Amino acid sequence: MIYKEACTSLKNRSSVLIVISNKGGVGKTSIAIAMSMFYAQKTKHRTLLLELDSSPGDFKTIFDIEEDKSLELALRFPQKYSRYVKNIYKNLDVLNGISNPLAAESIKTEAVNILFDYIYRDYKFIIIDTQTTINGIILDALRFSDLIFIVSDYSLESISRISSLLKFLVDKFSISKSKMKVIINKKKFLDFYKIWDITKIIELPIEIFISMDSRFNKTNFLFNREKIFRTKFFRQVSKAISSSLI
Ligand SMILES: Nc1ncnc2c1ncn2[C@@H]1O[C@H](COP(=O)(O)OP(=O)(O)OP(=O)(O)O)[C@@H](O)[C@H]1O
Ligand SMILES: [Mg+2]
Repeated sequence: MIYKEACTSLKNRSSVLIVISNKGGVGKTSIAIAMSMFYAQKTKHRTLLLELDSSPGDFKTIFDIEEDKSLELALRFPQKYSRYVKNIYKNLDVLNGISNPLAAESIKTEAVNILFDYIYRDYKFIIIDTQTTINGIILDALRFSDLIFIVSDYSLESISRISSLLKFLVDKFSISKSKMKVIINKKKFLDFYKIWDITKIIELPIEIFISMDSRFNKTNFLFNREKIFRTKFFRQVSKAISSSLI
């Protein structure tokens, strides 16, 4: 269903998918990487993985990105943004985020819109990884995203936090709830029923459960990226977003 929704919105421009959470370490980056690998591999369309994490993010390390390739320069010279993008796998490119949180705070919506107008011409899928704190540029991206994946880990505290985040985005910023999907990551079998009962009560739009996978590590991208395709983690993320294909 999710894959179909993303493809349907391809008619006019690229599909933008964003992964968010107000809790650290829940798997935002890992999920964004797996989704981008899935779309690039499955559709063969050009796919861009974009980092909006200035906390700082970890794309620079994971993808071994040079100092001169970053979103900061892409925003400054949008016509030439492709110079600041790194190809990391066949038709999959990555745009490294802004490492300085203060610089990220000062980005204007107009600059973001201009850059995206250029990006839309080149990519069918844009997958965005984010930081735990919502800033102006993330808010802009949430507004024009087609799908928003809100990630929680398998704890009540985390689920309660993302529930507040969802409400906040809907009530305060009028972001449509219909484009939000909740992902519960790092599922451990024994906790399942307790969490499932609670999420039903608070009416979270849960679409996806991903198990704890001891074989998965996001740094595999640097050392053995083919291995990611063989992990249960990748299979579960792919299955969840491609169910309409079957
Ligand atoms: N389902 C999973 N099974 C096993 N390990 C996982 C799973 N999901 C994520 N991880 C691991 O958990 C750690 C945190 O994941 P990740 O960096 O993707 O989270 P994050 O939400 O992006 O964190 P941050 O808030 O720091 O940006 C990483 O070491 C990653 O490899
Ligand atoms: Mg991250």
